[in-house]
Amino acid sequence: LISQPFDMIVFGGRGDLARRKLIPALYHLAREQRLPDDGRIICVSRGAMANEDFVKMMHDDCITHSGDGTKDGQFDEQSWASFATRLTYLGLDATDIKSYESLATLLKGREEVVRAFYLATAPDIFGPIAANLKALNLVTPASRLVLEKPLGKDLASAHEINAAVAKAFTEPQTYRIDHYLGKETVQNLMVLRFANALFEPLWNRTYIDHVQISVAETVGVGGRWKYYNESGALRDMVQNHLLQLICLTAMEPPSTLDADMIRDEKLKVLRALQPIHAADVAHATVRGQYKAGNITGKTVSGYLEETDSEAHSNTETFVAIKVAIENWRWAGVPFYIRTGKRLPSRSSEIVVQFKTPPHSPYPESAGTIHPNKLVMRLQPDEGIRLIMLNKGRGPGELKLRQTALDLSFAETFGGRSPDAYERLLLDVIRGRPALFMRLDELEAAWRWIDGIQQGWSDTALAPKPYAAGSWGPSAAIALIERDGRTWHEDD
Ligand code: BG6
Repeated sequence: LISQPFDMIVFGGRGDLARRKLIPALYHLAREQRLPDDGRIICVSRGAMANEDFVKMMHDDCITHSGDGTKDGQFDEQSWASFATRLTYLGLDATDIKSYESLATLLKGREEVVRAFYLATAPDIFGPIAANLKALNLVTPASRLVLEKPLGKDLASAHEINAAVAKAFTEPQTYRIDHYLGKETVQNLMVLRFANALFEPLWNRTYIDHVQISVAETVGVGGRWKYYNESGALRDMVQNHLLQLICLTAMEPPSTLDADMIRDEKLKVLRALQPIHAADVAHATVRGQYKAGNITGKTVSGYLEETDSEAHSNTETFVAIKVAIENWRWAGVPFYIRTGKRLPSRSSEIVVQFKTPPHSPYPESAGTIHPNKLVMRLQPDEGIRLIMLNKGRGPGELKLRQTALDLSFAETFGGRSPDAYERLLLDVIRGRPALFMRLDELEAAWRWIDGIQQGWSDTALAPKPYAAGSWGPSAAIALIERDGRTWHEDD
């Protein structure tokens, strides 16, 4: 599938995201012949740099950051050489309109071509960049604006940023990225639900006991302490990634795959989230902050000992929330979500736990009737697992055994697992906004998050310490166990 000719202009073109994700993703798209010959990538950033030095830097980054261990994912010099001819670096101060001259020259005469401005900068300059592009007449009808997160730090700031960019780009031209939506398994969630007849009849309060969503990371905040400390896990992960996962799990079937049909359904979920305010935060949320500890045999420092850290901080690096969705389908079915840094393993999964059968004809000696679970593993080892009971083998006394139908995407589909950004960048070029957040979705998400953030500040709810390498504060375990349930553990 080859997209149409394009110019992609990456602001923040020497930044971490460009180096780790965007350029490697574009390289793989080119390598797999998904980009047209006429597709240029122009990286702009403050400060001069010779083009060849830039290309060399990206080459080395691509070697480091591309590849998933499979043969198809390996870096290859020949395809790099042809990809490198697409790259141009321009030193430009994004807030100074006078420095846009060489960019304007480069784009001149290509007004018909898809023009994608990718803003991978701090969000406070999204507005100024959009204004400069407009003032210089660089925004054509074929232009698109891609906005990276964080899109603000609350509803008010998100509103301000979006209002500023809306002066230059229309809503259909605006692509708000949430890279979780580009993950294969996240897209598969809709296919699993809406292309199979098996699950949907059971996908409601009558048959589902509860849902768990865990996004666990082993990494700490790395060199991002200053950014992260202003944000915290709630804004950094829940406002976007986890809420999107809730939406895809809980939404009604859209009647077509039209971008707005899908987003309308997701929006309904966001609007149905029961608000969590000061009176609820103590029992519905848990905040944690990691201390020094041990992860797979390696000693790591605590959040307050990281590079650039300060001696005190009330920022959470872990959050768990009991979420209620107030609609017909989900009334009484809690969604327990948790995410954190410096947890014991990198694993993200959605677990749908069904109700136990209403009656058991089996004697106690046969064993416990464990509920069925559908586990969707987002990463690593992408796949689906359906956990159920079967009869243990043998003519002796009957034993119920917990067993699983296990589908590994790597084994089933083979080949390389593309990075989320590959799909999303291609969608930007092709003009497909279904996997991007619409303004009303973003605002609904912030409204819900603001309630929690406000509740925490009104009640001065401080994060509880947890040792790096543990599953967060014990209160996160109590959050679910209080309801007679437990966090799912893979065996
Ligand atoms: C980003 C967050 O959006 O997602 C990071 O800012 C986090 O803090 C990252 O580490 C996780 O993404 P992934 O794809 O590695 O799960």
